[in-house]
Amino acid sequence: MDTRDQFPSGVTKVKIEELVRKEILGLPLYEAGSILPRKLDEKVTRLDLNENFAVAGDIVGKLLLEVCQDVDVRLYPPLYGAMAVKAISEFFGFSESEIFVGNGVDGVLDSLMKVFVKKESKVLVVEPTFPLYAYFTQLYGGKKVTVLLRPNFELDVDGMLEKCDEQISLFIICSPNNPTGNQFKKEDLEKILREFKGVVVVDEAYVDFAKYTVIDWTRKFENLVVLRSFSKSFGLAGIRAGFLVSNKSIAEYVKRVTNPFEINIVTQRLIALALQNWNYFQQRIKYIIKEREWLRDALAKTDGVTPYPSDANFILFKITKDNLSSSTVKEKLESRDVLVKDRSNLPLLENCIRVTVGTRSMNETFVSALKDALEEQ
Ligand SMILES: Cc1ncc(COP(=O)(O)O)c(C=O)c1O
Repeated sequence: MDTRDQFPSGVTKVKIEELVRKEILGLPLYEAGSILPRKLDEKVTRLDLNENFAVAGDIVGKLLLEVCQDVDVRLYPPLYGAMAVKAISEFFGFSESEIFVGNGVDGVLDSLMKVFVKKESKVLVVEPTFPLYAYFTQLYGGKKVTVLLRPNFELDVDGMLEKCDEQISLFIICSPNNPTGNQFKKEDLEKILREFKGVVVVDEAYVDFAKYTVIDWTRKFENLVVLRSFSKSFGLAGIRAGFLVSNKSIAEYVKRVTNPFEINIVTQRLIALALQNWNYFQQRIKYIIKEREWLRDALAKTDGVTPYPSDANFILFKITKDNLSSSTVKEKLESRDVLVKDRSNLPLLENCIRVTVGTRSMNETFVSALKDALEEQ
């Protein structure tokens, strides 16, 4: 029997909706197809979440095992991810006080937005982009101000700066941008940093696959925050680790709003160990970059699709075949156990699909399934 049935009638029922913060009532749950794979068997070619399969599962597994044999989980972990912070500080050459480690870039964004998004304050977001910027803006009661990319996916810098007034506290730019794949021009980012009077966040989750980083600019622009992830170039999406580099005062405020034991001990140690093994990960990054060019070339030679250039570990492509939609292609691929992300619901991305760059054999499986899907009546 449901225990609620035991209460005598007449007891006031709690109206949960009236107690919940208004910003949360309209928030959607995050949806990502293959988090709960339709099929759990290994035959599924999972290219929809920009994970990294060029990093060998048994190699990161060994690193994880080494960590697990060496930690005492009865102890609380070092505060604010201190062990990971120290390793990142030594590796990247920033002081520990300029670094904050979070539960993935997602966790870093959560804390960062908690600090800067006031009720009714505005957050400038360039679209199409990673949907979590809009999500956290809404969560903390802010208002998203959108500026569209140009049709060639470059930043419309003047259009953006025109929208900037003093109510805009944050300006978020993802570079290389998910899902378009391109890294924005250095001079455009520099102009924004010089002219915008609020905090500029540059999400560099995919930067290891790209041409340049602005992480060192945090030394000269005190309004710059750079985000980095261990999910993409290190293939550690399941361990949840990301970090920001900024000036000390921003990093300190971000710490203040974060649970001090947020980063578990295994994650902290694994990050330190992964950085010690950078040579391995760097070599896998080079492999992905080569595979990306192979995949882009294969897509360019396939009738009925047009790929866009990419500086990331994924490629965006458009379905150009008459009377065929990207959602149909996605479904056809899924029926062949190949998972990709349909991005056609985002502005400027009509009929577009995003595919992760996998290993050569995954990429070949994908290209062959795509050709079948395009040819099928
Ligand atoms: C642009 C961008 N930022 C951040 C993330 C999330 O990174 P993390 O796994 O470190 O939370 C993603 C994940 O796909 C992303 O595309």
